[in-house]
Amino acid sequence: MAAVNSGGSEEISQPAKHQEVGHKSLLQSDALYQYILETSVYPREPAPMKELREVTAKHPWNLMTTSADEGQFLNLLLKLINAKNTMEIGVYTGYSLLSTALALPDDGKILALDINRQNYEIGLPIIEKAGVAHKIDFREGPALPVLDLMIEDEKFHGSFDFIFVDADKDNYLNYHKRLIDLVKIGGVIGYDNTLWNGSLVAPPDAPLRKYVRYYRDFVLELNKALAVDPRVEICQLPVGDGITLCRRIS
Ligand SMILES: C[S@@+](CC[C@H](N)C(=O)[O-])C[C@H]1O[C@@H](n2cnc3c(N)ncnc32)[C@H](O)[C@@H]1O
Repeated sequence: MAAVNSGGSEEISQPAKHQEVGHKSLLQSDALYQYILETSVYPREPAPMKELREVTAKHPWNLMTTSADEGQFLNLLLKLINAKNTMEIGVYTGYSLLSTALALPDDGKILALDINRQNYEIGLPIIEKAGVAHKIDFREGPALPVLDLMIEDEKFHGSFDFIFVDADKDNYLNYHKRLIDLVKIGGVIGYDNTLWNGSLVAPPDAPLRKYVRYYRDFVLELNKALAVDPRVEICQLPVGDGITLCRRIS
């Protein structure tokens, strides 16, 4: 923000700290988060999602799963935007995939990309039992080459209503370069983990887990790039570990 001071020169005024205009963020305690889960999320969670959440909780890498409140958010968002053709990068056992599959119409599609099929197969029987497996086209392997192939073919340009990105954070900007052409104008890309364990505002010497420290700078770069990207409108939500929605406008 630029302002002209009494000497006629331009000075930069900093935006007010949010506390100066009333503290609006309430999520300061685990108890409040637990309250949201128990009051508004778990009682409304579809049975197959509950089953998959409980199966995933026993898996050694359960830290990777999408949280139940975020699953609920994705499910509602997809219905609100009438999504039909979607993509997911980063499937793990399939919690966000199932929340997407349950939201789409019967002829909806999800191109699901992950380097690990074994974990997807943990959730697959539950997805099949829920009657939505026919919407999913799972491809095992790194996502980037698949995106490159689609970019080469005009028919995929502007073809996706919604794309959820929840995989290798060091590639998010590479994904964005491609996904911006693959999502349709008016469609939405959701980047997950954009608040990255709260580490984005941690002091440089803070004791962070190794993987948190490693990916931190990539997430910071992504957030900076999205904030100034004129091709999208954005909204960063503190749901789960932070999700940034990007609506393509050009
Ligand atoms: C955070 S987990 C995804 C969680 C999932 N959305 C859920 O709801 O449980 C990240 C996933 O990204 C996958 N992954 C990592 N690198 C990848 C890549 N280059 N391409 C595709 N998937 C990748 C991992 O195998 C892992 O399953």
